[in-house]
Amino acid sequence: MLDRPSPYAPILAGLLPLQATGIGVVRAGKALLSDISFRLVAGAPTVIMGANGAGKSLLLRVLHGLIAPTTGTITWGTGVDTDVAGRRSALVFQRPTLLRRSALANIEFVLSHRPRAARRQSAQETLDQAGLGHLASTPARQLSGGEQQRLAMARALASYPEVLFLDEPAASLDPAATLAVEALIKRASGSGTKVILVTHDIGQARRLAGEVVFLAGGRLSEVTAADDFFKQPCSATARAYLAGELIV
Ligand SMILES: Nc1ncnc2c1ncn2[C@@H]1O[C@H](COP(=O)(O)OP(=O)(O)OP(=O)(O)O)[C@@H](O)[C@H]1O
Ligand SMILES: [Mg+2]
Repeated sequence: MLDRPSPYAPILAGLLPLQATGIGVVRAGKALLSDISFRLVAGAPTVIMGANGAGKSLLLRVLHGLIAPTTGTITWGTGVDTDVAGRRSALVFQRPTLLRRSALANIEFVLSHRPRAARRQSAQETLDQAGLGHLASTPARQLSGGEQQRLAMARALASYPEVLFLDEPAASLDPAATLAVEALIKRASGSGTKVILVTHDIGQARRLAGEVVFLAGGRLSEVTAADDFFKQPCSATARAYLAGELIV
């Protein structure tokens, strides 16, 4: 089912490009994000990279509309309303929260607008594609950390988001599960979902990214096509990061 195009596509104005202009977030007098501007277009995934504390998770929350920026604006497509854009995009958190229900019921929950029988079948298909079909009746919170992460991603994909934000989707996964998650990401991307993901896994970024957004200290260092970024990033901070040197 993940191969089907978004049901929104034929009838609604698209969410892309996503334009961030002068985004800043200040908390307790401290600038956590400062003057971030970029434009993300349809196509291969955008990967957001940067050292711990650079502001990546915060930026995802701002883009998804969970946190209002202190300064700046986010514009979706040709002016799609922020609330509408929030409903047509999805965010999978660094530490996802699952319902105290079975794995299957967690997926069914986001399909509540569908008739019951269709809901169950669709939820089972989604689980199968995430490699979790055999765990359908297991309580979600009894799944391993990696399985929970995959379930959270499957749940996000079940609603056909036009834009999917993923915060370190494979952070606690073993190599096989990491590749399974990457296959899901490629599939979603191939069927027209714009994926915007945060990762510290340079191999994963190379495998998935069309472009890289690099943050340092809450500021934008560069937005660079992935091929160029991994050959020679523009900024000294990104070069130091890729070389494994600590950035504070
Ligand atoms: N709601 C908040 N209130 C105050 N400070 C915050 C808030 N959210 C994030 N921060 C601070 O902003 C900075 C950036 O946090 P963020 O979680 O975005 O980092 P990150 O780049 O995702 O790091 P990591 O790679 O460790 O996940 C951190 O110093 C964090 O403590
Ligand atoms: Mg983070």
